[in-house]
Amino acid sequence: MFNATTQKILSTMAAGQFCSGEELGQLCGISRAAIGKHIQALQQLGLDIYSVTGKGYRLATPITLLQQGEISRLLGDNIEHQVAVETVVGSTNELIKDKIKQGELISAASGYTVFAEAQTAGRGRRGRTWASPLGASLYFSMHWRFEQGISATMGLSLAVGIALSEALVELGVNELGLKWPNDVYYQGRKLAGILIELEGQGSDSCDIVIGVGINVQLPDSVTEQIDQPFADLAQTGINLDRNVIAATILRHLMQVMNTFEQRGFSAFVERWNVVDCFVGTPVNLLIGQRTISGISRGVDAQGGIVVESDGEQQTYYGGEISLRKQQ
Ligand code: BTN
Repeated sequence: MFNATTQKILSTMAAGQFCSGEELGQLCGISRAAIGKHIQALQQLGLDIYSVTGKGYRLATPITLLQQGEISRLLGDNIEHQVAVETVVGSTNELIKDKIKQGELISAASGYTVFAEAQTAGRGRRGRTWASPLGASLYFSMHWRFEQGISATMGLSLAVGIALSEALVELGVNELGLKWPNDVYYQGRKLAGILIELEGQGSDSCDIVIGVGINVQLPDSVTEQIDQPFADLAQTGINLDRNVIAATILRHLMQVMNTFEQRGFSAFVERWNVVDCFVGTPVNLLIGQRTISGISRGVDAQGGIVVESDGEQQTYYGGEISLRKQQ
């Protein structure tokens, strides 16, 4: 259950002050018991709310909710029709894919982006779940149409990683690295992930969905479920309005996508190799059942990883490849 009343309670509590059940009940025109149900719904979406007898409910950490108008204002350039903010969705990637299937983006310029405060079915790569608690991170998906078709998208996920890391550097985050093909790391732990999907392939052009999740301040209830070393922006020491983070990332992503569309990944090789945190280190490359061990030598002009084994260099491409530091 998430409706206009739940939204009203969320907006009222966002600043982090105590709100009693009675006050909230009066505000929403419902009973205290009914307020309790909405509070439960917010907790189920991952919002960290606690209650104190005699004082009421309070968020463990205040949040600034995402606002379409604020993100558009920060971006300037009259692009508000290209940004949408939802509170709860299944997955922003699925939402964009549905719009493509229904033909809603046929006449839209590339770059239409949907942010969500929470995802109930957030997806990661390789069928993993992407934990998406309410208000704790950034979850968004961007649509992009490639008129030259799928071949023009080689290396796209790497270019998106570059956009994210450059945006985060602008926001003051240091010690970032990229892990091929598309993870953003902070001090060796995963800070952000990218899920790129293809939808509605026509004969020539293709529609791409670029999904991005960036950990901002994950609640303990969620961190216990994550099965790999992770980081969030709170640990980096930056504490910014998520609208500012969203707008900065979107600006970098739009610039990168425009360059990528015109010049492909070859325009980004040097930028990638500067932030690749595995260049020059021993790696294991897993391709299906195969493991290739060698030294990472960075990426080629198509975004393939170059691995040196027994003095010979070979380049590998493809979505099923993963990379690990050797023990
Ligand atoms: C990964 O496994 O590293 C990729 C994670 C991608 C998560 C984002 S959150 C927004 C978008 N919607 C989804 O369901 N997934 C992506």
